[in-house]
Amino acid sequence: MKKESSESSYHTSVLLHESIEGLHIQPNGIYVDATFGGGGHSKEILKQLNEKGKLFGFDQDEDAKQNAPKDERFTLVQANFSELKRFLRLHNAIPVDGILADLGVSSWQFDTAERGFSFRFDGPLDMRMNKRGDKTAADVLNEMNADDLQKMFSTNGELRNAKTLANAIVEVRNGKAFETIADLLTVCEANRIGERHKYLAQVFQAIRIEVNDELGALKKLLEQSAEVLKPGGRLAVITFHSLEDRLVKNFMRHGNFDEEPVKDFYGNIEKKFKLITKKPIEASDKEQKENSRSRSAKLRVAERI
Ligand SMILES: C[S@@+](CC[C@H](N)C(=O)[O-])C[C@H]1O[C@@H](n2cnc3c(N)ncnc32)[C@H](O)[C@@H]1O
Repeated sequence: MKKESSESSYHTSVLLHESIEGLHIQPNGIYVDATFGGGGHSKEILKQLNEKGKLFGFDQDEDAKQNAPKDERFTLVQANFSELKRFLRLHNAIPVDGILADLGVSSWQFDTAERGFSFRFDGPLDMRMNKRGDKTAADVLNEMNADDLQKMFSTNGELRNAKTLANAIVEVRNGKAFETIADLLTVCEANRIGERHKYLAQVFQAIRIEVNDELGALKKLLEQSAEVLKPGGRLAVITFHSLEDRLVKNFMRHGNFDEEPVKDFYGNIEKKFKLITKKPIEASDKEQKENSRSRSAKLRVAERI
């Protein structure tokens, strides 16, 4: 079953103008859209580039290809952004002037039942952004031990009853392996505490982060951004939950993922970025009303020193 999309039905870009403004685009520069998706942000970047400018759009989902603009300044890289540096080197594109990342899944992925991202539909327990990825949501639920499941639910989903849910999953799968969203919903319904929508959103977020190693990939993207950006180049990142935002905030502030700055051999602080946004930018009331997905969005921008 193959759905067709138009650019606007694929995904509505979040914080579009704020993020493009944050990039402070040099018309003949080289830019990276690390999360191409429906191509909304890329389209705006291309508008601001002259004929010498270049844009590389990364997306690990082959479905995003259908949105690639026919523009010779644009190159689509179907790969994980954790391999940013390797692919840019391959294209002879280092150093770059700016990198944008708009994290998470697109509406297209979320609204396609067979991708398995949403508890609104039944479908396979998949949740892979890269359809050729080797670990599905079913694999996580059927193979991870109870301790790791608990850790995943409490760290990635901030569930208050992570242990109860983890043990219930192990008990259920001893009878029959998890295959569908319905299988997961049955065990969630029997063990949920608090409001249904919130609980399910937390469970699904936790599994999705694990399946796609989202935090691991983000760390690699941030580290490699510092290596490929030229001095004065900008990094703009839009996050949708606190785990992502904390990594971005600490990295932009301190050059590492901890709360403390990195010190060199002599005890000097090695700053990699100057903050352009001291506090994250959030969507306007108007945008939040028009696009509920923008409600949790936070944009941070920093400049490579
Ligand atoms: C929120 S959407 C981006 C939407 C886009 N900014 C737009 O305006 O249409 C995120 C996209 O990034 C992709 N993505 C997420 N994590 C990725 C990763 N680690 N590597 C490559 N692509 C990734 C997803 O497949 C998805 O298409």
